[in-house]
Amino acid sequence: MQLICPICKSPLTLSNKMYKCEHNHSYDIAKEGYVNLLPVQKKNSKNPGDSKEMIIARRSFLENGHYIPLIDKIIECIDPKENSLLLDAGCGEGYYGGQIADKIKSTTIIGFDISKEAIKKAAKKYKDQSFFIAGVNEIPLTDASIDTYLTIFAPLEAGEINRLLTADGQVIIVSAGPNHMREIAEEIYETFIPHDYNPIHKLKDDFKEISYHNLTFQIDLTTRDDMYALLMMTPYYWSVSKDNRDEILSTFSKTISCDFIIQVFQKLK
Ligand SMILES: C[S@@+](CC[C@H](N)C(=O)[O-])C[C@H]1O[C@@H](n2cnc3c(N)ncnc32)[C@H](O)[C@@H]1O
Ligand SMILES: [Zn+2]
Repeated sequence: MQLICPICKSPLTLSNKMYKCEHNHSYDIAKEGYVNLLPVQKKNSKNPGDSKEMIIARRSFLENGHYIPLIDKIIECIDPKENSLLLDAGCGEGYYGGQIADKIKSTTIIGFDISKEAIKKAAKKYKDQSFFIAGVNEIPLTDASIDTYLTIFAPLEAGEINRLLTADGQVIIVSAGPNHMREIAEEIYETFIPHDYNPIHKLKDDFKEISYHNLTFQIDLTTRDDMYALLMMTPYYWSVSKDNRDEILSTFSKTISCDFIIQVFQKLK
């Protein structure tokens, strides 16, 4: 993996626990082991990305193993080439990369996210992986350096993906299927509107779809903490008042539908 300077785009080299470019732009390695490659002048808010509360909720929910079928499906889609590099874009607190690293030893995993809290938590737990803070629209890695670009419920920037991907590399995108978390949406909104998002619209000029999978299953939430963590990691939590949150939790369905779309793309030659 070759990091580049987010300001002048020249290569970064490591010395004395610091990354530096030839123009003397420098980036410290935090005590958790990650590097912040999102300079203040490129931030569009003070604390971009998911908040600490969302990150903690996501970790608590994911570590209960509810999404193991999704991990298995993602792993089925990954091309397990020797010495390949997988970039988990918008990796959050690092759960997916951690699970993949346990199962595919031939692949090196790097994660980045725009949220400092997310990257801090990821780097603290997954010590064998590299993490940096950056946004999807300007990823500080050299051209044609990534074999698998994985993105799970995070924003996409087709131009950057095209620049980073090797000629025969793959893009794996996980997004919400029509009925994802339907029961929660039904509690909150009067009319349920099925999710309708297809990243193909963003990728179609540069990529072709190689495979499309729809994975559905149900999860049973056994504790109030689990319900709370799930609610809190979704946008729903942030769109309702505190009283409404309590009411939702008291009437919360214990069985929740998960509906994922997993698509694999390759560059158009
Ligand atoms: C719904 S979360 C998904 C996190 C993780 N992929 C997972 O599934 O557990 C979306 C993530 O994208 C990050 N994010 C939002 N905007 C971003 C951007 N412009 N660049 C990089 N990451 C971004 C958020 O901070 C958050 O961690
Ligand atoms: Zn520089």
